[in-house]
Amino acid sequence: METNNYYIHGVNGPVITVRGGRSLPMMSLVYVGNDKIPGEVVSANGDTAIVQVYEDSAGLGKGQPVISTGRPMSVLLGPGMISNIYDGIARPLRTIAGMTGSFITKGITLPALDLEKLWDVNIEVKDGDDAKGGMIFARTMESDAIEHRCMLRPDLKGKFIEVKPSGRYKVTDVIAQIVDERGRKTPLMLAQEWPIRRPRPCLKRLPITRPLVTGQRVIDTLFPVGKGGCAAIPGPFGAGKTMVQHQLAKWSDADVIVYLGCGERGNEMTQVLDEFAELKDPKTGHLLMERTILIANTSNMPVAAREASIYTGMTIAEYYRDMGYHVALMADSTSRWAEALREISGRLEEMPAEESFPAYLPSRLAGFYERAGYMETLSGAEGSITVIGAVSPQGGDFSEPVTQNTKRFIRTFWALDRSLAYARHFPSINWTTSYSEYFIDLKDWYENNFGSGFTKMRQQIIDILGKESSLMEIVKLIGADILPDDQKLIIETAKVIRQGYLQQNAFHKTDTYMPPEKQMIMLEVILYLFEEAKKLTSRNIPLNQLVATGVFSALYRMKFDLGEGQTKDYFIKLIDDSISKVLEGNE
Ligand SMILES: Nc1ncnc2c1ncn2[C@@H]1O[C@H](COP(=O)(O)OP(=O)(O)OP(=O)(O)O)[C@@H](O)[C@H]1O
Ligand SMILES: [Mg+2]
Repeated sequence: METNNYYIHGVNGPVITVRGGRSLPMMSLVYVGNDKIPGEVVSANGDTAIVQVYEDSAGLGKGQPVISTGRPMSVLLGPGMISNIYDGIARPLRTIAGMTGSFITKGITLPALDLEKLWDVNIEVKDGDDAKGGMIFARTMESDAIEHRCMLRPDLKGKFIEVKPSGRYKVTDVIAQIVDERGRKTPLMLAQEWPIRRPRPCLKRLPITRPLVTGQRVIDTLFPVGKGGCAAIPGPFGAGKTMVQHQLAKWSDADVIVYLGCGERGNEMTQVLDEFAELKDPKTGHLLMERTILIANTSNMPVAAREASIYTGMTIAEYYRDMGYHVALMADSTSRWAEALREISGRLEEMPAEESFPAYLPSRLAGFYERAGYMETLSGAEGSITVIGAVSPQGGDFSEPVTQNTKRFIRTFWALDRSLAYARHFPSINWTTSYSEYFIDLKDWYENNFGSGFTKMRQQIIDILGKESSLMEIVKLIGADILPDDQKLIIETAKVIRQGYLQQNAFHKTDTYMPPEKQMIMLEVILYLFEEAKKLTSRNIPLNQLVATGVFSALYRMKFDLGEGQTKDYFIKLIDDSISKVLEGNE
């Protein structure tokens, strides 16, 4: 660490002008002022550099010293991250709270990992073994749900020597040495540092062929996101963006969840902490917190750390992907992140582009979403990162720059709708403006896992909803009564699909998560009713008679009742009986 003679020349919120010495390396980590606040060099020119600081700059003043580290902003990766909660630059908030009584961090430098904790480590290499970047050399159980696989830093190569036996180690204990061709030794520890702004390397990008199964019907059935893909959740204030993020963090079939609270309310993160500490994964029975990492840069926390937080989160996600895990990264909200960019850019007096966002907003968004993917890792395993970003456009106007630019990099768009939310139709994902471009790549998976015929049923559902939309124009003008029965049937069935299928109550004990096999049953039953009813109307039997049997409304409740004592056969019989009753009445 060189102290040189860097000093503060000016303070403008989180943007600090630093003078002295040789020019500071771009993007390097510095400690600013008497409080030693961490910051990053964002521009450097001769003896003047601009630094963004990751804490409140209130105590900083002209002339205070600045320490250069010469190293990029990095995070210490290793066992102990799971179940943890970090700030935007990966400082453990619980530890800080233990030290200071609150989440106030002034000048605290703390590694992401507990350096004292002993881990039961199984070391899988021996002296003389070839060492190759990315290979797994040791394992330890990090939580009940996650086995931590310690990987060689991607740039290391050579042979293992001085390998210690399996046993109990701290993350920074030297457990072996890597000796390269020229005889240079590098000590090997369980933990490794990685610069947050540099994507971790992989062998190659693989095609996306399976969905992230979420247990949310409207998503799994209509608008899936592929594992390794990107989805955006734009929505006006209060439309349910956070709720969708929470639902996916809880129920999606990812191995590891990285949840990034970016500029949103602090109590939402506390809620995640509390709920996840109690909720169990329906598939594994493990507590949800045992697979979750939280990163909190809430609205009351420093704005520059918000800019960094998505890179911190992404780096952690990549690290678990490299172990061969499927990771889902939720960012709530990317708009708040973009606002942080805008604020810093403004203070740097850069030339603003659209709506005062900096001209590099699109490339920063691209850089973030491009780090998602389904990959073959350096160790030859498969791992993925699925990114789900909430977008909070001002006034719900999707034409603003963050939503529009995000659309260029994502392929699933869950457009939340104010009027649906107002009508308490949740999740308020609008089925006409939302889309998933992944479905075509996932078709085989669906046919094999949801059941053959799924694609056709999905299309029928989409068609019925589409026809309903156009009919509603007429209905609004002249009412439904004068519609012919085949069109009335569309309206009745679409209502079942909307209320009985697409609506899903996140607060309901069983409805909160629906496994694929049940979704498939529901689709079959709804479409069975549709087909049978169509037969009736083609015989000129009035649809009203079937509606009067209550069979349509019975299907509104199917999502609650299915499996709670009622089976698919029960509903099919109910439909058959209702049809017979109507037929008898017409004999
Ligand atoms: N799936 C759901 N089931 C039941 N209620 C829901 C669901 N989704 C959203 N809600 C209701 O809508 C409210 C607002 O949701 P949420 O906080 O997720 O909105 P938001 O879009 O994140 O809002 P903000 O713009 O303030 O961040 C929730 O508190 C809840 O009452
Ligand atoms: Mg929210």
